[in-house]
Amino acid sequence: NWNMKNFVADQVELIRQQVGDRKVLLALSGGVDSSVVAALLVKAIGKQLVCVHVNHGLMRKGESESVVEVFKNQLDANLVYVDASERFLGKLAGVADPEEKRKIIGAEFIRVFEEEARKLEGIDFLAQGTIYPDIVESGTKTAKVVKSHHNVGGLPEDLNFELVEPLRQLFKDEVRACGLELGLPDEMVFRQPFPGPGLGVRCLGAITKERLEAVREADAILREEFHNAGLDKKVWQYFTVVPDFKSVGVRDNARSFEYPVILRAVNTVDAMTASIEQIDWPVLLKITDRILKEVANVNRVCYDLSPKPTATIEWE
Ligand code: XMP
Repeated sequence: NWNMKNFVADQVELIRQQVGDRKVLLALSGGVDSSVVAALLVKAIGKQLVCVHVNHGLMRKGESESVVEVFKNQLDANLVYVDASERFLGKLAGVADPEEKRKIIGAEFIRVFEEEARKLEGIDFLAQGTIYPDIVESGTKTAKVVKSHHNVGGLPEDLNFELVEPLRQLFKDEVRACGLELGLPDEMVFRQPFPGPGLGVRCLGAITKERLEAVREADAILREEFHNAGLDKKVWQYFTVVPDFKSVGVRDNARSFEYPVILRAVNTVDAMTASIEQIDWPVLLKITDRILKEVANVNRVCYDLSPKPTATIEWE
């Protein structure tokens, strides 16, 4: 009979048969799919799995730290942590066009991952968090491209790896159940969708450290208050955006000229259309108050009421 316990046991056996005593490489972004694959492979082959986590400097607050905490400290996995923040920010300096930013982040990610892969000796396999909808969708995608949805993690082209894809037959909810069966924390298993280019497409226009910090800190406050209000389990995706213009305000009886933070919270079934979450005023006001007090260089908070269409979920 099919249940998650048996699925895990079967996959552990199959992975051991496929891999033997050889080594497997995995790009571990910290997303649901790559995290579940990592946990499954650690269970099956322990340190024969080499996880590479590339921090592109566009992660949310505490995210890379939690990848290290869960995989290195708790699961004792073989984890290579690469802080490539400065490198990505350097490549992105002065680049304002959203599609250009996506392309740079996607290409640079593959380059960094490839460099790490070449440093490692004797790797024969590449594990990927491919799930069933990925296979089905890539075969039938006819929709017009609105954004070039770069996903962080692509196959380095001339590195010859055999693939290990143990989640190929699972739907998203089954992947989550698998993660829970493997003992991964709830925050990781029920993580909201997060775009490959990360905060890079939420720090609008040409990215600066100042605005990137503002979007990251404001996002952390939004997530904390959504958690406190029980909205994190209810709302599909929620985040903050910082545009590249300032507005006039007043702080400590003096004129200020600082950035706004835009709040976005949406519900959707398939991300093709979306409607906004009607957040209760007290929650909105609490979030606003905290952002204005705690986040540097911000003097205004706005709430985006736009559905998709006409807007998209992300601003870039
Ligand atoms: P949009 O903004 O197109 O977003 O309405 C729909 C969903 O896709 C996510 N998204 C991305 N995911 N790489 C990704 O992996 C990307 O470049 C990207 N752009 C948008 C977005 O967060 C939303 O969930």
